[in-house]
Amino acid sequence: MNIAFIGFGKVSYVLSKIIQSPDINFTTSCENRSKETADLISKSNVQVHDSFGDALGCADVIISAVTPAKALEVANNYSKYCNGIYLDLNNISPYTTEKINNLVDNFVDGAIIGKIDSSSPTLYLSGKDAEKLLFLDEFLNVEIISDKIGDASRLKLLRSTYTKSLSVLLIETYELAKKLDLDDEFFEVLSLTEGDDFKEKSLSRINNTMMSSKRKAEELEEILDYFNDDDLKMIKTALDKLKQF
Ligand SMILES: NC(=O)c1ccc[n+]([C@@H]2O[C@H](COP(=O)([O-])OP(=O)(O)OC[C@H]3O[C@@H](n4cnc5c(N)ncnc54)[C@H](OP(=O)(O)O)[C@@H]3O)[C@@H](O)[C@H]2O)c1
Repeated sequence: MNIAFIGFGKVSYVLSKIIQSPDINFTTSCENRSKETADLISKSNVQVHDSFGDALGCADVIISAVTPAKALEVANNYSKYCNGIYLDLNNISPYTTEKINNLVDNFVDGAIIGKIDSSSPTLYLSGKDAEKLLFLDEFLNVEIISDKIGDASRLKLLRSTYTKSLSVLLIETYELAKKLDLDDEFFEVLSLTEGDDFKEKSLSRINNTMMSSKRKAEELEEILDYFNDDDLKMIKTALDKLKQF
């Protein structure tokens, strides 16, 4: 089986390391790519073609892992070379997913939950051809949600809605605890119900939210735009608060 990557950053690099089988051959191209990407490709066991056309034409599965802003453009440019499954792993909105589905045959909607280099990355898939990718379950956790394109993207958006809004509440409560000089105890008491690693995870989440509050606010704006529901009061409040950080 041939798997071709469009985009060879962290996601493709890690996947090419995790998916190790004598029956699977990886291809990609350095056509118009940066030195950073070319260096990463040369560190991997991936066959390099002069053009993406050559790399993709012989693929049973094409994986698009570029940047969210380029996902639609690459689908538009390269769908003509697709003779097998086209799996998109970019963090894109369900709107973009639908647009790609209109361009590409045998499209599978994919969502990586968490970081790809975490200890057990999980891949959620939807679409009528998703089952053809179940062989990946041998190498990472694969969950098929439904045969409906957009469900994987929507599930990722729901997760993001919850985690981003919760992070704002966490920051607010942590600030209160600090003012009362009870911050250690705050984490301790929550660890009893939320798990031993609650403090570590919370501090990382707080730090991450504060460091990229602008991007997170933009993402929440997109979420509100997508769900377009007047009743999403908690999310709107989280957005207002994020804009103040
Ligand atoms: N990293 C994660 O854990 C994670 C988790 C969930 C979802 N995702 C999603 O997965 C996608 C890839 O993430 P990543 O972390 O691998 O990103 P990354 O490390 O920034 O790599 C992006 C790759 O895409 C290439 N690229 C950009 N535009 C391209 C184009 N028009 N044609 C061909 N290649 C192009 C880049 O090449 P150049 O260097 O030449 O620009 C680079 O090789 C993103 O959409 C991200 O939202 C990532």
